[in-house]
Amino acid sequence: MSTTESARRVWRWFAMQEDSAADNTDLFAQLVAESPVVHFPGLWVISRHDLVAKFSNHPGLTMVSPEFPADMREENPDFTEFFSNSMSVRAPEDHRRLRGVLAREFTGRSVERLRERISRIIDTLLADPAVDSGFEFVSRIAVPLPSLVTAALLDLPEEDWGQVTTWSRGMLAQLGKSFPGAKPTTEPISVEGFQKLRSYVESVVRERDTRNGTDVISRLNASRRSGHLSHDEVVNMVLLLFMTGVDTVTSGLTNALLCLLTRPAEWQRVAEDPEKWAAPAFAESIRLLAPVTFGARVAAEDLSIGNIVIRKGEIVLLAFAAANLDPRRFEAPLEFRWDRTQNASMSFGHGAYFCLGAGLGSLQSELLLARLAQDGIALAQPADSLPWRSELTFNSPAVLPVRLGTGLEV
Ligand code: HEM
Repeated sequence: MSTTESARRVWRWFAMQEDSAADNTDLFAQLVAESPVVHFPGLWVISRHDLVAKFSNHPGLTMVSPEFPADMREENPDFTEFFSNSMSVRAPEDHRRLRGVLAREFTGRSVERLRERISRIIDTLLADPAVDSGFEFVSRIAVPLPSLVTAALLDLPEEDWGQVTTWSRGMLAQLGKSFPGAKPTTEPISVEGFQKLRSYVESVVRERDTRNGTDVISRLNASRRSGHLSHDEVVNMVLLLFMTGVDTVTSGLTNALLCLLTRPAEWQRVAEDPEKWAAPAFAESIRLLAPVTFGARVAAEDLSIGNIVIRKGEIVLLAFAAANLDPRRFEAPLEFRWDRTQNASMSFGHGAYFCLGAGLGSLQSELLLARLAQDGIALAQPADSLPWRSELTFNSPAVLPVRLGTGLEV
């Protein structure tokens, strides 16, 4: 494929969602090798690893606030207002302030406190009789696990946990409607659904204010009392966590499992010593198959970076999935290697908007992979016949049928 072909394909993939519901590894690998910097009218696609790193930290590039179409603003005004005020799309000084407060809830120690609870959630999910000799991994495990972990993180009552999944997926589907060529596969949250969710979060936030506890919501309330956040910002942050911590992990878990089940030698290694190998296996798997394919920024002013001149208002796509396959940064980028320096992976983004939940997402994934490798699990459908999802910036199999027991891929 020539340079212009890979660039054109990326345009069709991004702007029209053409061929996007598929494993796009070959597209990303060719893009970064052949056209690491592409300029369309009003839009840049950057995939060279060093440039993605540089651009991720550039103060003149801020997160794109979605342009909600007028009919969508009218259709679900509360949702569009919530998202337009959420942390990541706020002005840089507000983003830094809010991020600073939220980051305290995701330190290594805070995440480690959830280890036992996550293990129990995994035990419960795998003890379900429906998870017998064979099951569909995405719906049975990869969707509920991160919702339950988010509910545990926020210390919500267990009877509400099922509802968290519906709400979080519904919000993402609603957001997905603002994307060009969107074809959401989940039911977007309704006006009444979002109002219900908002008043649920409002009531939990108010109730925790009287508790003075050590859970995340009580601690965010304490930050409000000391003047670092407003009440609306606390509510908005909790709603944001419902959105950011669920589908990302669903896609990450699914990609990692697919990657390992199609590499029996690597899977075997995890089974032999899960404590040692589950973590690097997860990191290398999501480098190869990044669950979040790109981040979008807008230029707040005219910028020049090296010989690239970006005009105010132009959009810059940071192609994380392609940067992860940059041969200038990763030797033999399409090979699974245990000894990569993983902090170079862009799967959790980089710089100013680096994922706050990277530790939590990794912990739940590592615990699950360790458990599945020990139990023994194999693909129940050939990998090349799987349907893929592509809502928003996600890219992962939509379903992953597996069967218990050792043995190789069918
Ligand atoms: C495997 C799992 C996950 C993946 C692959 C992932 C990926 C990402 C990526 C790529 C970004 C940066 C987007 C950009 O630069 O445009 C991001 C940001 C973010 N992630 Fe994650 N994420 C995961 C899990 C989580 C979890 C579990 C949480 C929280 C419970 C979370 C919370 C956030 C937040 C709050 C941001 C925005 C940071 C900011 O605006 O400064 N993520 N994530």
